[in-house]
Amino acid sequence: MSGRVLSVASECVPLVKTGGLADVVGALPGALAATGWEMRVLMPRYRSLLAQSAGWPVVWDEADLWGGPGRVLAGEVAGVRMLLLDAPHLFDRDGGPYSGPLGDHPDNAVRFAALSWVAARIAREGLDGWKPDVLHAHDWQAGLAPAYLAYGGSGGVKSVLTVHNIAFQGWAPAHMLGILRLPGHAFHPDALEYYGGISSLKAGLVTADRITTVSPTYAAELMRPEFGMGLQGVIAARASVVSGILNGVDTGVWSPEAEDPPFGPKAMAGKAAARAALCAEFGLEVPGPLAIVVSRLTDQKGIDLLPAVIPDFVLGGGGLVVLGSGDPTLEGACRTLAARFPGRVATRIGYDEAMSHRLFAGADAVLVPSRFEPCGLTQMYGLRYGALPVVALVGGLADTVIGASPATLAAGVATGVTFHPVDTLGFGQALTQLLALHAQPKLWTRLRSNAMGHPVGWETSAAAYASLYEGLCA
Ligand code: ADP
Ligand code: GLC
Repeated sequence: MSGRVLSVASECVPLVKTGGLADVVGALPGALAATGWEMRVLMPRYRSLLAQSAGWPVVWDEADLWGGPGRVLAGEVAGVRMLLLDAPHLFDRDGGPYSGPLGDHPDNAVRFAALSWVAARIAREGLDGWKPDVLHAHDWQAGLAPAYLAYGGSGGVKSVLTVHNIAFQGWAPAHMLGILRLPGHAFHPDALEYYGGISSLKAGLVTADRITTVSPTYAAELMRPEFGMGLQGVIAARASVVSGILNGVDTGVWSPEAEDPPFGPKAMAGKAAARAALCAEFGLEVPGPLAIVVSRLTDQKGIDLLPAVIPDFVLGGGGLVVLGSGDPTLEGACRTLAARFPGRVATRIGYDEAMSHRLFAGADAVLVPSRFEPCGLTQMYGLRYGALPVVALVGGLADTVIGASPATLAAGVATGVTFHPVDTLGFGQALTQLLALHAQPKLWTRLRSNAMGHPVGWETSAAAYASLYEGLCA
């Protein structure tokens, strides 16, 4: 079966990215193409995209989109058919997708309601003869799109909501119900009412035909209080339409054979050269395993555990490079570690895609001590690049890494190190295990080749999305 899908999101690689959501939204259309499903992506035309999309034709307009005109421009970027929602009063401003110099944009509820509203209209009415069979909404920013279809008529279009991170729920005060063009009857605990206000994520969760999240383990975790962040009951009530489909990584972009110097499972000389180059770049000399962290520096990612565990890791011969930005306290803690262990620990605060490639190419291990992780992409880059993942046993990390244990080592299937609970004791023990494994060259080589052979591409997941759409449209 084949069909058409309108994907709606707030970010998409290579146009705008703050995290893995953008990678996934940007990769899905290409991954799905082989299955016969054609996907187009609708996202806002932020200020940073004005020049790039200057000549794109207008394919849709709406005179009053919450205080100003809205238009949709169509174009193609990196092989993906993009629809950009141009509404300068909402999106042509300083800063990133969600915040400006003074913090979160105060009208975020309206900005992303507008995106969702236009998505629902395009899905319902079609665009230039292109009528989707499925509207696929991502996270709270698109959560109202299935709701607008449910409350305003779906025109036969089915909806899917994918939860990439339940921690962000898109809350707005109750008095905005009418402003957001939502009907009075929807303000109900069984619908989109949430703690006395409106949650656009909840609106999507209660109205979408199917709910997916980005790993099977996170799908189960989401129904438990410690991971559901208040929405566990809502999701559990819809368990029969919830599924977990693991993300893939874009193996064209994340390819050790395409790095400089190139390497691969059977030609590891390039990896040794990349490690040496990395040590030179950061002024490091590391006798044991060289670990990296490439991450948003937030509580979710367990970065606060580093100061307690890294000193012993360094004493044991290890080294660390941190590349990330986020919480100023955590940025400071990472800088302090580097200052305390010159020649062994280096920290770069910032966002640098090219540097992240050099890090994965040169590293022996990547550390991902997340408290929760819907899927996680960096552990998969680590697998592919022979940088053994050391991960907390949660969410997608648990679904992608096989921790070394006597049994998995004997069976020859281990691909990394896993730990639980996510605290300094568990993480510290994992790093001790990493040091021990690294000290056994034959075992280490075996582990690394297992990791590099582990499939992390999109094929299986794209087929799973295709069959989800097929099931909906049958
Ligand atoms: P999340 O979306 O929760 O941040 P993921 O692991 O799904 O976590 O995706 C994070 C993405 O952002 C990965 O592609 C990762 O390489 C990238 N990334 C995070 N921080 C940085 C950084 N400082 N520089 C370069 N890339 C980064
Ligand atoms: C979110 C999650 C991350 C996931 C990404 C893409 O940002 O935090 O775990 O990989 O979305 O689905």
